[in-house]
Amino acid sequence: MSDKPRSLVTGAAGFIGSHLCERLLDEGHEVIGLDGFIDFYSRSLKEANLANLLSRPRFRFIEADLLEADLAGLFDGIEFVFHQAGQPGVRGSWGKQFDEYLRNNILATQRLLEAAKAHLGRIRRVVYASSSSVYGAVSTLPLCEEVVPRPFSPYGVTKLGAEQLCLLYHLNDGLPVVALRYFTVYGPRQRPDMAFQRFIHAILTGEEVVIYGDGEQTRDFTYVSDGVEANLLALKPEAEGGTFNIGGGARITINDALSLLERLVGQPVRRRHILAQKGDVRHTFADVTLAGRVLGYRPRVTLEDGLARQLKWVRLSSSPSREF
Ligand code: NAD
Ligand code: UGA
Repeated sequence: MSDKPRSLVTGAAGFIGSHLCERLLDEGHEVIGLDGFIDFYSRSLKEANLANLLSRPRFRFIEADLLEADLAGLFDGIEFVFHQAGQPGVRGSWGKQFDEYLRNNILATQRLLEAAKAHLGRIRRVVYASSSSVYGAVSTLPLCEEVVPRPFSPYGVTKLGAEQLCLLYHLNDGLPVVALRYFTVYGPRQRPDMAFQRFIHAILTGEEVVIYGDGEQTRDFTYVSDGVEANLLALKPEAEGGTFNIGGGARITINDALSLLERLVGQPVRRRHILAQKGDVRHTFADVTLAGRVLGYRPRVTLEDGLARQLKWVRLSSSPSREF
């Protein structure tokens, strides 16, 4: 077996997972990327996410659903597991769709943890992609990890359920897990259902931008390379068993973020306000003190720089997606 660190990344064809795979390869890891191409958004976008990875010699891609795959075989030689696979999207998690959230967030995570447990002696870390949505509609900002989580969406319930599963495998079995609570991640390859991707598409095509509610809700936006960096930092021994907020370091209203985008594009946009969406919290803002102290995490990319990079990427991509 090679002496390179060996990592398994679930959700490797997704937005965050594909960036993480690239970074791990740059750091000298051998990477097995797994993805089941769930149909939340199109397979062609996910294949494009993988395009740079497939030609890299230390990368192997496995198309498989975590609920069906032979996970025992997958863990051969694996030391680090980065569990990014999941059913994302806050607003779509109501009604019949909830089955997909239960399946891909809770059941898939439980199955992965069982498989990791069988290789306890070798596994040095399982990093779980948790979410700011576990907090819910909290009025005291910034949010710190001690706040009692009270999710406001069915999605948030499943992300919290899976996070708790990770922690209980740590407490019962000593599985070396870390949970990273990402706050609204953006950048190149952002999912087509997310605000910035939709806003950029609308501005570039002259369509109107749809804003949920009055647009005065705020988000702490995290540039994708900062989120990826947090995964690398989560391998530090002192991180084991911890839960950390991973934010961008500031918050902004959706109205102001859209104005910034207009300025970057150099053209105005027509705005249409519709009803606020069920499950969307009013504000998020991460207190990253703990991540700073234990992991050495510092968000590096400002919203202006990060948005400019996302805009550039959309312009260079052949066809900005209109799926959502
Ligand atoms: P994404 O949809 O782009 O990537 C997730 C990938 O997981 C997809 O390619 C999907 O096909 C795969 N997947 C889902 N269920 C699977 C299963 N059962 N088996 C195999 N593969 C499966 O989403 P993303 O935005 O990159 O998010 C990655 C993770 O980070 C998710 O767990 C999400 O909940 C979490 N998260 C994302 C954000 C954000 O702002 N993007 C914020 C907080 C948390
Ligand atoms: C994002 C991700 O989509 C979730 O997967 C993740 O778990 C969550 O971050 C998190 O931080 O945990 P969200 O904050 O809703 O969820 O991200 P966006 O889709 O980018 O929306 C940001 C804001 O823009 C929300 O207030 C939303 O209501 C608003 N929005 C979104 C619009 O006004 N119009 C749109 O077309 C889309």
